[in-house]
Amino acid sequence: MKPNIQVAATVDAANPWATHAVRIRAIEQEVSDVASYELEFEDSAVAERFHFVPGQFNMLYLPGIGESAISISSDPDVPQRLLHTVRAVGSVTRALARKQIGDQLLLRGPFGSAWPVDLFRGQDIVIAAGGLGLAPVRPVIHYIMNRRGEFGKVWLLYGARSPDDLLYTSQYDCWRETDIETHITVDLGDNQWKGNIGVVPSLFERLQLDASLTRVLTCGPEIMMRFVIAECLAQKIDPKHIFVSMERNMNCALGFCGHCQLGPAFVCKDGPVFTYEQMEPYLNVEDF
Ligand SMILES: Cc1cc2nc3c(=O)[nH]c(=O)nc-3n(C[C@H](O)[C@H](O)[C@H](O)COP(=O)(O)OP(=O)(O)OC[C@H]3O[C@@H](n4cnc5c(N)ncnc54)[C@H](O)[C@@H]3O)c2cc1C
Ligand code: FES
Repeated sequence: MKPNIQVAATVDAANPWATHAVRIRAIEQEVSDVASYELEFEDSAVAERFHFVPGQFNMLYLPGIGESAISISSDPDVPQRLLHTVRAVGSVTRALARKQIGDQLLLRGPFGSAWPVDLFRGQDIVIAAGGLGLAPVRPVIHYIMNRRGEFGKVWLLYGARSPDDLLYTSQYDCWRETDIETHITVDLGDNQWKGNIGVVPSLFERLQLDASLTRVLTCGPEIMMRFVIAECLAQKIDPKHIFVSMERNMNCALGFCGHCQLGPAFVCKDGPVFTYEQMEPYLNVEDF
């Protein structure tokens, strides 16, 4: 299963195992266990060579601890200012959470397939994300904002468990000002919450979609993606125009170790972005 989308090669095309030193320029605590790290390459020649396309990820490496696949969340038009938004869940990500501004780590990448943003020119776009799933689609938002006139209507549907779990809250007004119709929802509100309550797929009822023009990108918990896809199919959106980003435990990121295998595909090199057509046999199976 090959990606049909143009992607950026690793910064060392001849040696994808090569790691490069990056320094933490800034840290923003997004929610209690999630922080965004702005990274910059120590070697300016490497920085010059590094490019990525929306949807790709890097392997972040903490020597003596290990390596983790983390999506790139920043603006693909400014590839030297890399942002990674990370939930502290295990050995690498918890160790990263103890790092401070100025600390060094190693990085190799970028890896993986891309959201096919170039194919979306002139089309309407629905971005449906849940929880940390907003991180891998944020470069798409940047990409569209930088070229807003080239796309039709754009909707962002984003949800989290509670108001305290919402990512990038300072950005929503800016997205709205760039004519990205942004709908935010939470599963459970609190005393201050005046916005929507409900799951992300329920936001579809607010949209006036033209099925023939609409392209859908979705990323988040697999159950959410299943219901988003069901909404899209009910609205007669072509399964070839629905794109999903899959996560699987990774090791090599190069298609060698088999850790990330999903049927005939390796998420590291064939994904993480797939068409719904490619993922249909797996997405319809509970706990696949
Ligand atoms: C393409 C891709 C992009 C990703 N982007 C991000 C991102 O932007 N931000 C972020 O915080 N995380 C992201 N992840 C997930 C991240 O790679 C894993 O959580 C990683 O295992 C964390 O490493 P660790 O050493 O801290 O945890 P580990 O010690 O490896 O594991 C911690 C726990 O999480 C489980 N686990 C590990 N990986 C996964 C997985 N992929 N799916 C489900 N359960 C898993 C383990 O079984 C264990 O219970 C991404 C994963 C992939 C494949
Ligand atoms: S992570 Fe090794 S094959 Fe994908």
